[in-house]
Amino acid sequence: MKGVFITGTDTGVGKTIVTCGLALALKKKGIDLGVMKPIETGADPYAEDALFFKDMLDLSNPLNEICPVQFKLPLAPLAASELENKQFSLAPIINTFSKMAKEKDFVFVEGAGGLMVPIFQDFLMAHLANLLDLPIIIVVGNRLGGINHTLLSYHYAQAIGLRVLAILINPLTEETGLTEESNFEMLRKLITDTPVFKTPFITDKQDKLAYGKGFSKIADMIL
Ligand SMILES: Nc1ncnc2c1ncn2[C@@H]1O[C@H](COP(=O)(O)OP(=O)(O)OP(=O)(O)O)[C@@H](O)[C@H]1O
Ligand SMILES: [Mg+2]
Repeated sequence: MKGVFITGTDTGVGKTIVTCGLALALKKKGIDLGVMKPIETGADPYAEDALFFKDMLDLSNPLNEICPVQFKLPLAPLAASELENKQFSLAPIINTFSKMAKEKDFVFVEGAGGLMVPIFQDFLMAHLANLLDLPIIIVVGNRLGGINHTLLSYHYAQAIGLRVLAILINPLTEETGLTEESNFEMLRKLITDTPVFKTPFITDKQDKLAYGKGFSKIADMIL
């Protein structure tokens, strides 16, 4: 089994859109996919990322398998679990992931927020990627501050022994200008040992065809 853990420079940077684009590209090649959002917060009433994956990728797994740990409050998992007074363990995540890893050709796992989001007191999102033994892709929200956030994420990932497969510079608006262009150019210049790609802007995120070939080159690389 192959797989990848999709993380990002922050929450709301396009991890779900990018995961969907890459997954659709692999699906088109006939690859049998597993997809997980192991922990989703702000799941009120639904875990929207998990539901989006289920709909867009026609996943047969029930929602609580795609997303075994859900919190209503839109906070970091540790904060949500404390305020909701809801203890949890990683067991259902590990069990579902192991099952998918056995049954599927490729598994996508989308983190919540960025790499240093706390899950437990001494356990961060990055440690979950490590535990599942997955390489990561860093999705960069292409806006001012993106260079700093990317370098912080990239160097931290390397420091704790995560393998970074690619850095994807993802547009958050249709129009791009000097900031967006120069973020890409600078990150390409500053990060020389890992591929840095641009992902496309998707005008209608429910339209499977809209993801198209913008993601297929990157999908080929991670296979
Ligand atoms: N490439 C893109 N094209 C069009 N819209 C995008 C793109 N990337 C992100 N967006 C939009 O930006 C918002 C945040 O994207 P998304 O939900 O994928 O972020 P995320 O990193 O998965 O967030 P979370 O941390 O909540 O899981 C959404 O409204 C999404 O539609
Ligand atoms: Mg998401």
